Amino acid sequence: MVNFDFTEEQLMIKEAARDFAEKELSKGAAERDEKEIFPHEQIKRMAGLGFMGMMVPPEHGGAGLDTISYVLALEEISRADASAGVIMSVNNSLVCWGLEKFGTDSQKEKYLRPLASGEFLGAFCLSEPEAGSDAVNQRTTAVRSGDFYVINGTKNFITNGANADILIVMATTERGKGSHGVSAFIVEKSFPGVVVSRKEHKLGIRSSDTAQITFEECHVPSCNRIGEEGLGFRFAMMTLDGGRIGIAAQAIGIARAALDASLKYVRERKAFDKLLYEFQAIQFKLADMHTNIEAASLLALNAGLKKDRGERFTKDAAMAKLFASKVAVDCALEAIQIHGGYGYLKDFPVERYLRDAKITEIYEGTSEIQRLVIAREVLDQD
Ligand code: CAA
Repeated sequence: MVNFDFTEEQLMIKEAARDFAEKELSKGAAERDEKEIFPHEQIKRMAGLGFMGMMVPPEHGGAGLDTISYVLALEEISRADASAGVIMSVNNSLVCWGLEKFGTDSQKEKYLRPLASGEFLGAFCLSEPEAGSDAVNQRTTAVRSGDFYVINGTKNFITNGANADILIVMATTERGKGSHGVSAFIVEKSFPGVVVSRKEHKLGIRSSDTAQITFEECHVPSCNRIGEEGLGFRFAMMTLDGGRIGIAAQAIGIARAALDASLKYVRERKAFDKLLYEFQAIQFKLADMHTNIEAASLLALNAGLKKDRGERFTKDAAMAKLFASKVAVDCALEAIQIHGGYGYLKDFPVERYLRDAKITEIYEGTSEIQRLVIAREVLDQD
């Protein structure tokens, strides 16, 4: 792999994540997936290692690390358990980051600190039944009433939704102003009027929780608004830029797991009196998988580096997610092909990798949306 000049600290974090993932996540991942069991204990232990608020400064309860360390750790976690990976990614990228960047001091003290230390779990509520890719089309409303906003509406596909303590909620505060009429709020799950209206049963990442959340006359103190009124959409887009680096890392972790499983299998399985790895047809698959994983990893690290340097990284994050998610799906498919009939069975992990990989092409902006974001910037540069 190209020397990305990782620091001692970054390598140590990667090692710690790998060690934890191998010892504490790998073994139960298949069963948790099968039975849709949320990894409560594992997430608590990840929080103990600083993995739930990795980029939050220590003065706000986080680990104070950079995005490169985050990418490396998230890859290792997802390599063992992609469900744990998305839980970690959402809490870090979509919840802690925005509070740290745009929150007031008291919001940071009250909400960011427990979120970063893992005492609380967070969720990001943007998608709605009629606002998926077209995220501007927010039907959820937040109407000012004295010192409160009254929120009404439904949010869909909310990762961590049922288990979260804190929700970051985007809602329309002024109709007719499009993206400029959307604001962001911190909503405690325990506020009256917050209802987990549906738990989803999914193809993959089945031990993470995905829920529909309904807000019914939910009164949120106006001091829980994040930033100015009308800045919520921009806030959500900036947050998702960072989120997409996280999903790229998750995808790379899944792809690496698919390659790991394939490498193990081809050294054990014989056909026509030869071990599978001796066939050039198999070698070419392994070579392509490895090459694509390394390319995806470089894209994710590049986006992370730009973010850490304070440079604009919207296009870089979109490219990393677009490419890494495709690599994850392709690697999982090739891993199944290498395993032949066994790859299609639950006895081997590769079918889970394919189910887990698919969502990385959909959430936090579909591959079509990533292409749109990339194309807009490419055209702007001409
Ligand atoms: N950073 C800062 N500002 C941004 C931005 C960014 N990355 N992207 C857009 N904006 C700003 C624009 O500059 C524009 O501001 P002005 O009007 O002041 O110029 C405003 O936001 C509106 O943007 P657009 O005009 O580009 O809006 P659009 O409707 O044409 O397209 C979109 C926007 C890119 C398609 C956007 O809607 C999008 O990203 N959609 C996908 C939504 C998504 O990713 N959802 C994921 C849900 S969360 C999830 O999956 C989490 C989970 O649980 C795992």
